[in-house]
Amino acid sequence: MKTNEIRSAFLEYFRENGHEVVASSSLVPHDDPTLLFTNAGMNQFKDTFLGREQRDYKRATTSQKCVRAGGKHNDLDNVGYTARHHTFFEMLGNFSFGDYFKKEAIHFAWNFLTGTLQLPKERLCVTVYASDDEAYNIWLNDIGVSADDIIRIGDNKGAPYASDNFWQMGDTGPCGPCTEIFFDHGDHIWGGRPGTPEEDGDRFIEIWNIVFMQYNRQANGDMQPLPKPSVDTGMGLERIAAVMQHVNSNYETDLFQSLLNDASVLLGGVATTEGSLRVIADHIRSCSFLISDGVMPSNEGRGYTLRRIIRRACRHGHKLGAKESFFYKLVGSLVKVMGEAYPELAKNQAQIERVLLQEEEQFTRTLDKGMKLLEESIANMKGDVIAGETLFTLYDTYGFPVDLTEDIARERDLKVDIEGFEKALEAQRERARASSKFGVDYNNQLVIEGATAFTGYDNTAGQARVHSLFVEGEQVDLISEGQQATVVLEQTPFYAESGGQVGDTGLLNFATGSLRVVDTRKQGDHHLHMVEVVSGELRQGEEVSAGVDAEKRHATSLNHSATHLLHAALRQVLGDHVAQKGSLVDPERLRFDFSHLEAVKPEELKTIETLVNEQIRANTPVKTELMDMDAAKASGAMALFGEKYADEVRVLTMGTNNFSIELCGGIHASRTGDIGSFRIVAESGIAAGVRRIEAVTGAGAESFVQSRFTELSNACRMLKAKPESLEAKLQALVDQSRSLEKEMQQLKQKLASAGSSDLVSQAIDVNGVKLLATELDGIDPKSLRDMVDQLKNKLGSGIVFLATKADGKVPLAAGVTKDLTGRVKAGDLLKMVAEQLGGKGGGRPDFAQGGGSQPENLEKALSSIKGWLESQL
Ligand code: ALA
Repeated sequence: MKTNEIRSAFLEYFRENGHEVVASSSLVPHDDPTLLFTNAGMNQFKDTFLGREQRDYKRATTSQKCVRAGGKHNDLDNVGYTARHHTFFEMLGNFSFGDYFKKEAIHFAWNFLTGTLQLPKERLCVTVYASDDEAYNIWLNDIGVSADDIIRIGDNKGAPYASDNFWQMGDTGPCGPCTEIFFDHGDHIWGGRPGTPEEDGDRFIEIWNIVFMQYNRQANGDMQPLPKPSVDTGMGLERIAAVMQHVNSNYETDLFQSLLNDASVLLGGVATTEGSLRVIADHIRSCSFLISDGVMPSNEGRGYTLRRIIRRACRHGHKLGAKESFFYKLVGSLVKVMGEAYPELAKNQAQIERVLLQEEEQFTRTLDKGMKLLEESIANMKGDVIAGETLFTLYDTYGFPVDLTEDIARERDLKVDIEGFEKALEAQRERARASSKFGVDYNNQLVIEGATAFTGYDNTAGQARVHSLFVEGEQVDLISEGQQATVVLEQTPFYAESGGQVGDTGLLNFATGSLRVVDTRKQGDHHLHMVEVVSGELRQGEEVSAGVDAEKRHATSLNHSATHLLHAALRQVLGDHVAQKGSLVDPERLRFDFSHLEAVKPEELKTIETLVNEQIRANTPVKTELMDMDAAKASGAMALFGEKYADEVRVLTMGTNNFSIELCGGIHASRTGDIGSFRIVAESGIAAGVRRIEAVTGAGAESFVQSRFTELSNACRMLKAKPESLEAKLQALVDQSRSLEKEMQQLKQKLASAGSSDLVSQAIDVNGVKLLATELDGIDPKSLRDMVDQLKNKLGSGIVFLATKADGKVPLAAGVTKDLTGRVKAGDLLKMVAEQLGGKGGGRPDFAQGGGSQPENLEKALSSIKGWLESQL
């Protein structure tokens, strides 16, 4: 059965059993900072399991794109070394949200495997969490698996609920005991059953994991029961494909064979069983899907993990002898095998190729040098541990992610000193660290109940009761003068930082004093006011009167609206590929990052600026509407990729003919005319394929233009020109200075040759041969050669030796007219003098050049020439 057929059969089986077929979510998790990448089918349903979100269905099934690299569940280091680990894989899953539980879940899995797929029962065995008698009995009594084939696995990872049979998404969040189904690939393959010392072999492979979701794990380790027991299952598509295609390794399945064959051709016929080739075939999948889902290589977070994977692939290619960029050429092969199931791949192919090529070219520049350094330190190493300092230099200077160096170490049975590396890295970080006193742990949100009501769309002031107070992350009853604290109010007009717009600042006044709000941030459904207590004591439950700094808020709102206009103008001028990659909106300026592969041309920038200013002058009202997501999509609103939106969303429309329609929770101008004016102040590249525009509006635009005018009028004053003739005047000045320089050169030469006539008269006679040997002051060493030639011409027959002093050095030149070269060689003469000056030189018999570094010996050396010449003649 082909992989694509297995995927369809799975979804169809569960659809027939009442499950909604849901599309795979993006690899970039929705608004969940606890997760680096989507690592399991259940991620997109996290809030449904937690009871925070209701869906129209209680059963779902998916084939989910997953990446397990970096973060929890990291398989990167195993890729290439085992038959079954991948950075990217597809997880088939079925889910019950408070609907069926253990019994049905186990039945569904068993029936699909032994019924639909016809797997022989005797090759399957199962595990259950040690204390889960319910699951044990279902397997034994309902399904009829023999007791020998049901293995209980307890807490085997050093803590309660830390077990191969207790699954959790991350350090916090939904979790529960699980039961797993294993397939026996046969005794010709090394490995043992789960729970035995040989369990890591490739013989018994876990193919399906059924998790009984029962708890929400808190940061402090508490297990809160979920509102309703649920089911989350996962079956790796690649593993079940290997079983169905009677091969032991996932790399031998149809999906990988085609990729491996193409990679082999690209790399000059390497065997498809080669570990490095498998690494490449695995990595092209994760890299392509990540880029397609909007991740760009960078130096932090998700982007850095992507970079690590790309570089690891390049290094393996290099090891196989790749002479030129190769990795990006595999995107087409991947599209061939997976483009149908994932149309976004085909759509983004060109972009993926460009990003990979750029990244590969960049890394190849340092790869060779880094490898050389590594080879040298390995050659000079005592023992078998690569030093932390070496790891750090490779990382810091040559762009080698640590796991890349580890990978090389592993190939050669060496170890790496990670601790030493961390120390070197920490020392560097320490220097750069700016610490924040308002440490807020994202997972604290689980302990603040309710939600802050936001009143700030229409107001900048209002009364409110204190909901809770925190100092350094701990809840307190009272805060007092001098303290820094976090205040949560029941309702607030303070906008909390989100969607690129900075949090509001201002004051909270209360009966006995006041608080200065230095920032407002969002955590879950709450607005957290970061405050300094100016005076008085504030208790939980007290009333405060909240006042936002209205001037700053207004300036920020103008910048925010201008950002929307800029976004729309960019798409009009540059094309629909422009997608927002980040933004920052504060009172002073706006910054907008977007995908575009080359610098925006000056004339394009001008058009964009003009378009935005036209919309400002049109002075249309900025319209805000609340609607459901489907209606918003139908209106053509631009939504941010990978952002999670509530069921009801705010849709912002502005400009003539709906110039910009965007989903946005931010604060905006009431009419476009309020923005006043829009000026782009900078355009730059911030990462491969990502550009940044910075701009100012309103009063900020005015002062920007004013300071440009001041600079202009200062320049006019200096040049005594009117602004309109400044350019012509400057051009004339530049031309003039060029021609003056030329004239000066010519004059210098003239002077030198005039000087040379005088010099001729200084020539002396040595045994009938004219000798002119002298030091020249303040001449350009480059003109020595010309002068020697001129003097030779003037003498007709003779020997010339010139020296000058320049910057502690003594440039020298010697010339002998042709008629005398049989008797005296210019090279010999030069050498003789240079040696006395601690230098050297040489050349032809008729001309030689060189220099010394002891100006103090020049006089003596020059006077030695006469004697030397006598000895030669
Ligand atoms: N979420 C479970 C897993 O990833 C099914 O194994």
